[in-house]
Amino acid sequence: MRGEHEDLLRRLNRIKAGGGEERIARQHERGKYTARERLELLFDEGTFVEMGAFVQHRSSQFDMAGREVPADGVVTGHGEVNGKTVYAFSQDFTTMGGSLGEMHAQKICRIMDQALQNGSPFVGINDSGGARIQEGVDALNGYGEIFRRNTMASGVIPQLSVIAGPCAGGASYSPALTDMILMVEDTARMFITGPAVINSVTGEDIDANQLGGAHAHAAKSGVAHLTYPDEDSLFAELRWLLGLLPSNSSELPAVTEAVPPEVNAPQLAAIVPQSPRKGYDMQRVINGVVDEQSFLPIQPSFASNAIIGLGRIAGRVVGILANQPRFLAGCLDIDSSDKIARHVRFCDAFNIPVVTFVDTPGYLPGVDQEHGGIIRHGAKVLYAYSEAQVPKISVVVRKAYGGAYLAMCSRSLGADVALAWPTAEIAVMGPEGACNIVFRREINSAEDPEQKRQEKISDYRERFANPYIAASRGYIDAVIQPQQTRCRVAEALKALSGKRRSRMPDDKPHGNFPV
Ligand code: HXC
Repeated sequence: MRGEHEDLLRRLNRIKAGGGEERIARQHERGKYTARERLELLFDEGTFVEMGAFVQHRSSQFDMAGREVPADGVVTGHGEVNGKTVYAFSQDFTTMGGSLGEMHAQKICRIMDQALQNGSPFVGINDSGGARIQEGVDALNGYGEIFRRNTMASGVIPQLSVIAGPCAGGASYSPALTDMILMVEDTARMFITGPAVINSVTGEDIDANQLGGAHAHAAKSGVAHLTYPDEDSLFAELRWLLGLLPSNSSELPAVTEAVPPEVNAPQLAAIVPQSPRKGYDMQRVINGVVDEQSFLPIQPSFASNAIIGLGRIAGRVVGILANQPRFLAGCLDIDSSDKIARHVRFCDAFNIPVVTFVDTPGYLPGVDQEHGGIIRHGAKVLYAYSEAQVPKISVVVRKAYGGAYLAMCSRSLGADVALAWPTAEIAVMGPEGACNIVFRREINSAEDPEQKRQEKISDYRERFANPYIAASRGYIDAVIQPQQTRCRVAEALKALSGKRRSRMPDDKPHGNFPV
């Protein structure tokens, strides 16, 4: 028995050694943890249970026959994060560059299946050279199997992707199919075709970091949801995030000990400037409503004219969506529409009520926007809010004009509670545009046309765009003092906590979401 026992330990030690000391040292030199060290950071101490450690490839192409690839380049299993079961894979870059072959993919698929069957979140830690060249179509099939499972699990269990090294080619489509992508600055790279291929095809010259690093995906492409200076801070926040989310779509997010909702925020009354043309920071409004230090902005550097994030209000988890008047006056454009629509759908899938703060003059005008498909992209916001069945609360802070008023969780799209501040302006279009159309003749024939225009604009704002008109029709439930906002939203969240979903009709497999 002792010999067999020692044999087992020897085998396990060989597997745990991954690609060996030299490659592990190189991994560390680059500021990267190993696959196993990352799992230690993710899970509560001592809770990780590895599955499939002995799995081996069965490829004989190239020089693969008989070649030992520890754990086939990926560590898979489950463990606990703050006591909650979570499934994860972690690719081992020290072992054949973490490349994905047939059995590597099979290991990932097995834990994805188990995560889905058990209703537990799934975390993928990516650090890989992509499809294992030696395994050809078997490697490609492996990716296909993973993509299909990502899709089947979408909206049922939270799927979170960590990018902690290269994630090249079609490999980046698995993270793209998950709910959120968390990238490490300096070491993470995502692209479909790398710098060399781009250079040979288009002649463009760019390095890997500029092309697919965390900054590029956080600020330009919108692929990354969150970025971190190092892996320690990433895994610490990932653990916090997993604590916020329910394990699956049948569960509700945990309510923590409530911070009393009666805590009002007097500073809210002083945020909206006197001049309707002046910008301000909507983040200050959000900070005055959510529980202190509870707000996590998502995609903060992408489409900054919209703010999205997760937080708590009086202990209840909420998804926050808002226009940001500091950028593009808070207009809705192509990118901010995508950003908002996807977050609404994420929250709806995981029973997270949405709270929307509105200050938008409308959809952004421009040929680029029209030809870029603002109709198609803007429609996503309408669709997402209309479809969402979680509690929906909106607060019109200032401007809410035209289609953008409707889009930002209006009563017409199903807001359960629609509130407005006294500074709210709700109308078919902004005063300037409306007056130029309706009073054009009167303005042009006036002795001083500019003075007349200003008079008409201010009259329009006062008489036609005030929130009491919308409230008198029932489109706004209450006009409230800004400092009451936190209290009113908290009360609404409590009252709506029992909101039930209506079932999809049997003959509707799914809607045709505009993409
Ligand atoms: C097999 C691979 C590999 C791969 C890396 N390795 N990528 N082995 N298949 N795809 C191995 C290397 O041979 C090397 O082995 C070890 O991993 C580390 O690689 P290095 O090149 O030494 O590391 P580094 O200089 O850090 O460069 C990392 C890298 C580079 C940028 C990822 O290796 C690279 O460009 N790899 C190819 C990336 C790629 O184009 N993949 C295919 C994408 S297409 P040794 O034994 O020397 O340590 C794809 C299709 C998916 O993935 C389609 C899905 C739809």
